[in-house]
Amino acid sequence: MRKRIEELILEAGRKARAETSDEPEPQYTGDVEFPIECKVGRGLEGAVASTTKVGYVNGARGWLVYRGHNIFDLAAYSTYEETAYVLLFGALPTKSQLDEFKQELKSKRGVPAPVMEVLRQISPKTHPMSALRTAVSMLGNLDPNADDTSVEAETKVAIQLIAMFPTLTGAVARLRWNKEPLQPNPELDHAANLLYLITGDAPDELKERVLDIALILHADHGMNASTFTTMVVNSSLSDMYGSVTAGVASLKGPLHGGANERVLYDLEEIGEPENVDAWFAKADATKRKVMGFGHRVYKAYDPRARILGPLAGLLVEHHPHEAKLYKIATRLETVVCGKMAEKKIFPNVDFYAGLVYRAVGIETAMMTPIFAVSRVAGWTARALEYLGDNRIYRPRAIYTGPIHLDYRPMGSRG
Ligand SMILES: CC(C)(COP(=O)(O)OP(=O)(O)OC[C@H]1O[C@@H](n2cnc3c(N)ncnc32)[C@H](O)[C@@H]1OP(=O)(O)O)[C@@H](O)C(=O)NCCC(=O)NCCS
Repeated sequence: MRKRIEELILEAGRKARAETSDEPEPQYTGDVEFPIECKVGRGLEGAVASTTKVGYVNGARGWLVYRGHNIFDLAAYSTYEETAYVLLFGALPTKSQLDEFKQELKSKRGVPAPVMEVLRQISPKTHPMSALRTAVSMLGNLDPNADDTSVEAETKVAIQLIAMFPTLTGAVARLRWNKEPLQPNPELDHAANLLYLITGDAPDELKERVLDIALILHADHGMNASTFTTMVVNSSLSDMYGSVTAGVASLKGPLHGGANERVLYDLEEIGEPENVDAWFAKADATKRKVMGFGHRVYKAYDPRARILGPLAGLLVEHHPHEAKLYKIATRLETVVCGKMAEKKIFPNVDFYAGLVYRAVGIETAMMTPIFAVSRVAGWTARALEYLGDNRIYRPRAIYTGPIHLDYRPMGSRG
C-alpha cells in the first residue's frame, strides 16, 4: 500500500514538472535587501512582508517547497512529525533527532484540565474553529511563562502547541456529540493519534498514511492570511498563544481554510454526478464562487491538489462510502477547469482535502480544525523565524475620506 501511495505522488510530481517547466520564475527569489520596490494590489497582492527560508510557493509553476524540499518528495517519503521538524529547525533530522522530537511531541500531548472544562462550556452548535480558538487562548492563560517572548521560550510553546492540537481537536469533535474526550494514545504517531482522538478507533494503514500526507501538505504555505495574521500578532511581542489564537481565527474563514468544508456542502448540494453541469452553469451565471477552486498565488494546478486528488480516489476504492461525492468532484473539476481555463482557475488544496477527511471518517464541520492541526507548524515556524530579527508590522492605509470638515455642535446637526 505504501508503495502504491508513493508511486501516485511521484507520478503527480512528474506531471507537475512536465506541464509547467516553461513558466517563468517569479520576481523575487534569493537574497534581497530592503527597501524593495513592488507593486501592491488590493488584499496586499504583490506585497512583500518578509524574507524567509521556511517555505516557497511558485504559483506559475505550481511548486511548493519547505526548507528546500519539494512537496512531492516530502509527501512521498516524509511524515508529519519530520515535516514539522524541518519547518521549525531548518533541515531534515537525523534518526536520533527525529526519535527525540517524536518522543517530545508524544510527551506533550496532554491538555490541562481547565482547558477541557472550558471546552465543555461551549455549545455544540459553536463552530469547531471557534471552540479551538478559545482553547488555544485558554492554554496561554495557564502557562506562567507565556509572556516570555524569547525565541527559545516561544520555540517550546510552538512544540507544545503542535503536540496538543490533535488533543484539542479530538475533544472539540467529541464534545459536539456529547462524547467524552479521549486520552492521547502514546502507541500511535501524530496522524493516527489524531484520528483515534476523534473517532475512538485506531485507523488502518491506508487511512493513517493518507491523513499523515494531508497533514504534510497543509503544514506551510507562504504568506497566507492565517500565517500573516500569526506573524503580525507575534511581531508586537505579544505571545505565541495569542498569535496562534489569531491564526486559528483567520484560518476559519470560507475564503481561507474554511473552504474545505464548504466544498463538501457544494458537492452535497449538487447531489448526483449528472447534476454537475447544470449546477455549475447556474453558479457561473450568478457569479457564485465555486469553493475549492482558484488561488491568489497559484496560476497553475495546486501541487497539493495534484496529490490529494489521486489519494481521495485511492481511499474511495477501499472505503466506497464517499464514492458518489468523489464522482461529483471529478466531474466538477473537469467542468470548472474547462470553462475557466482562461482565468487559470484550478482546484486548490481544499477541493480534495474534504473528501479525504470524509473518507477517513472525519465529519465535515471538523475539516478546518484538521487543517489547523497541520498549519500550526507553519505558523509557528514563520513567527519564530521573524522573531529572530523582529520588526513590528505596520503597513499604511490610503485615506480616502474628507479632511477639513467643520465640527458642528450637536444642536445644529438636525
Ligand atoms: C482563493 C480566492 C479567495 C483568491 O481570491 P483572489 O486572489 O482575490 O481572486 P479573485 O477573487 O479576485 O478572482 C480572480 C477572478 O477569478 C474568478 N474566480 C476566482 N476563484 C473563483 C472560484 N472559486 N469560482 C469562480 N470564479 C472564481 C473571480 O470571479 C475573478 O473573476 P473576474 O476577474 O472575472 O472578476 C478565490 O479564488 C476564492 O474565493 N476561491 C474560493 C474559496 C477557496 O477555495 N478558498 C481556498 C483557497 S486555498
